[in-house]
Amino acid sequence: MITDMKARYRVVSDEKLAALKAREHATFLQRTPRSRATFEKAHEMLLNGVPMPWMGDWGTAHPIFVQKASGNRIIDIDGNEYLDFCLGDTGAMFGHSPEPTANAVADQVRNGITTMLPTESALVAGAELSRRFGLPYWQVAMTATEANRYVIRISRALTRRPKVLVMNECYHGSLDESLPHIGPDGSLELRSDYDMNPGLPKDQLTRVVEFNDLAALERELAHRDVACVLAEPVMTNCGMVLPQPGYLEGLRELCTRYGSILVIDETHTFSTGPGGYTAAYGLKPDFITLGKSIAGGIPVAVYGFTREMAARINATFGRKSVSDPMGIGGTLSGNAFAVRAMAATLTEVATEEAFTRMIAGQERLSDGLDAALRQHDIPWSVTRCGARCELQFMPTLPVTGSEAKSQFDWELIYYTHLYLSNRGILITPFHNMMLVPPMASDADIDRLVSVWNDCMAEFVED
Ligand SMILES: Cc1ncc(COP(=O)(O)O)c(C=O)c1O
Repeated sequence: MITDMKARYRVVSDEKLAALKAREHATFLQRTPRSRATFEKAHEMLLNGVPMPWMGDWGTAHPIFVQKASGNRIIDIDGNEYLDFCLGDTGAMFGHSPEPTANAVADQVRNGITTMLPTESALVAGAELSRRFGLPYWQVAMTATEANRYVIRISRALTRRPKVLVMNECYHGSLDESLPHIGPDGSLELRSDYDMNPGLPKDQLTRVVEFNDLAALERELAHRDVACVLAEPVMTNCGMVLPQPGYLEGLRELCTRYGSILVIDETHTFSTGPGGYTAAYGLKPDFITLGKSIAGGIPVAVYGFTREMAARINATFGRKSVSDPMGIGGTLSGNAFAVRAMAATLTEVATEEAFTRMIAGQERLSDGLDAALRQHDIPWSVTRCGARCELQFMPTLPVTGSEAKSQFDWELIYYTHLYLSNRGILITPFHNMMLVPPMASDADIDRLVSVWNDCMAEFVED
């Protein structure tokens, strides 16, 4: 949704941006007539012409309709080819339709999709997750939203406390508890930014603090009504906010001191390495949640936990939960098809070698973007988290979610994405996140840098 919020460091005048946008808009329409016609037709049966709201939010006049996605390439129904650095907003982080995942699901689809019984693949996936993330026990859900929801429910049951604490401007899925944010007067507001979320109960079940603020965290946890803290180790949905030295250690310590369960959501920060941010930086969460990419984009998510949490779960609910008193299940969760996809992806696709390539590629990309910013004297910055980076319209790295969000400039975001897509490049909508998959060549990465460079050169030229 385009608003008039403007970054302090916009570097291009409103008039010039409007003229550039008109030019790019015309080019886009000329390149994508079939997508446009399909979009118009789709309004007859799909709300706003798309099957899911986010798909209509790319900043282009209409979404491009996809004919095929493979590796790091997408071809639209007009025959345009794109280098993809969005990768389904992480779901396809290892590239589209990885061969081992495709082969595994092609076989499994003919041998039972869902039975409400376990398969041996679950042991393969469980062992791999334990080895990588250092947590002994795992459960399977369908989406990261759902994994977070289950962990919140378990946390409430184990602690007999009602509240969830999240970081201001976080996103952990479409969970009511994680959507409120801090209002201008310090109160909890609907996560409307713009009054867009009337369906959200304005409940008192959430406490919200700024990331990197241990004093605020302690103040809120001291109420001793917080069942769990749900946090990403690097905030990735409001731009990108890195933890300050000592912050994550402090978070762990305060959760322990005040009896709250620490849940680390690795859904995006899995980009850090084979065991996510947790393994790379030796974090000690009680639970990890993780989804999106772990089955190559096939809907699967997991939550892992410590021996202590496992013992508490069984002590609270009993080992054999009759009629599921936990309220945790999901008929399709852990189905044979999805679990087989996860086992194949973890063992054959999301390998150490793949991460090495992705991280090296991201270093090339963010160094290149940084150099282009310097070349044009543009006061923006690039933040990296393993294979993903974020270009933010501010000179210094943000410390809190509010600071990151204050530099959101939808006009600029949507314009740059339109410019890139007219030149055959896709990056993540809603912000400037760019992920590097293992198959991206140096030439692919250099192409992205060069197109950004041209885009920025036009902003600053007289
Ligand atoms: C950090 C994080 N956790 C959880 C989710 C929810 O994932 P899903 O929409 O696949 O349920 C998201 C989605 O963007 C996310 O960014």
